[in-house]
Amino acid sequence: MRCLGSLGRAVSDRALLLGPVLPRWPFLQVRRRARVRTAGRECGTVTSESTVAGNNSDVRERRIRRVRAAYVEQFGPADAIRYGAVPAPQPGPQEVLVTVEATTANHVDTFIRSGALGTRIGFPFIVGRDLVGTVASVGAAASGFAAGDRVWCNSLGYGGRQGAAAELAAVPADRLYHLPDRVPIEAVTVLHPTATAYLGLMVHGELRPGETVVVVGAAGNVGSAAITIASHAGARIVAIAHARDLAYCASLGADTVLDAASPSFADRLASATGDGVDVYLDTAGANDLPTAVSLLRMRGRIVVLAGLRTRANLALGDLYVKDGSIRGFAITNATVGELAEAADAVNQLLIAGHLRSRRIHTLPLADTAEAHRMLESGELHGARVLLQTP
Ligand SMILES: NC(=O)c1ccc[n+]([C@@H]2O[C@H](COP(=O)([O-])OP(=O)(O)OC[C@H]3O[C@@H](n4cnc5c(N)ncnc54)[C@H](OP(=O)(O)O)[C@@H]3O)[C@@H](O)[C@H]2O)c1
Repeated sequence: MRCLGSLGRAVSDRALLLGPVLPRWPFLQVRRRARVRTAGRECGTVTSESTVAGNNSDVRERRIRRVRAAYVEQFGPADAIRYGAVPAPQPGPQEVLVTVEATTANHVDTFIRSGALGTRIGFPFIVGRDLVGTVASVGAAASGFAAGDRVWCNSLGYGGRQGAAAELAAVPADRLYHLPDRVPIEAVTVLHPTATAYLGLMVHGELRPGETVVVVGAAGNVGSAAITIASHAGARIVAIAHARDLAYCASLGADTVLDAASPSFADRLASATGDGVDVYLDTAGANDLPTAVSLLRMRGRIVVLAGLRTRANLALGDLYVKDGSIRGFAITNATVGELAEAADAVNQLLIAGHLRSRRIHTLPLADTAEAHRMLESGELHGARVLLQTP
């Protein structure tokens, strides 16, 4: 196992302390800011003024009746997304009202917008899962936040919650996290992929220091975050990507990088994983399970998280004689506790400066439909879209 600095050593320590509960990524305590300030921007269409209820009674702000948002009125393609004024969120006592600074578009947002992924939503439905913003006000029963705190969330826009692509969002306090000091709004582009990689590898994959992990689609958003997470967890990483992306994967910490299209790929993969693979994570969604199973070490874990429509024809005997397992995982199902654990890891990596999107296209929030179109066309090749509120 490599020496990975304090994060890696701490993970090793955690592995020795594993109890009956899921392991926790050791995290630096992110200092909570005590200052209280009035939200810095006005949003949407202001129609009246009143004092914000909640535990920041000294904070006065205008009551906002309508906000600008990207929303759909029914499931449909990217161009079904409209941009305009919708009723402002009315946060409940356990929610925090956040002035959104930036959001982004993830594959899952397109699945929810199109209706491909069933979840409870109401129309008009504001799209978007992730935000970075500033606390505007705090519900009476919500704790841990104060007006002016910089915050992030990666679990809006499903399960009955409206999305993040709006000037204001009501976020349940237990789904909101402090953004570490000096971290810019571009962080919004790494939240979902990194939390996904963390949960896929560490929670569902139960990756341990010294183990071998194969990451397919390693140059993608989730794949590159998986290299970073696995590297800090002290794992040996075999990254599979396109030839043009191999150097990038190596720069993130992959020990072996393989071009899936190379004629010698199968031989090189077998040689790179000679002692067997402990965790196999395919973010490209190819889901070549026969190959994955053939590579598994005893008690190896295959984590399936992509390839919504793929099917597998697998000789199950090859799996069970190794005590192997195939574990499906969708972050949409993550509990608030799992999301908070992943958030600790995300914040720790943000503080350490280890998370950065490869390329970022910044668009105004009004262009959310274009962001979905770019994502669905497959033209982004590792770039992320940052949608900025006006
Ligand atoms: N289950 C969950 O909770 C969860 C959460 C987040 C994401 N996901 C899913 O995970 C998948 C990845 O998301 P993402 O945001 O990381 O997408 P992405 O950035 O497009 O990553 C996919 C990567 O795989 C590469 N790729 C495609 N075919 C390949 C092949 N044959 N060999 C090697 N690399 C190949 C792509 O390269 P090119 O772009 O150059 O083709 C790209 O780098 C999506 O299907 C998404 O829906 C699931």
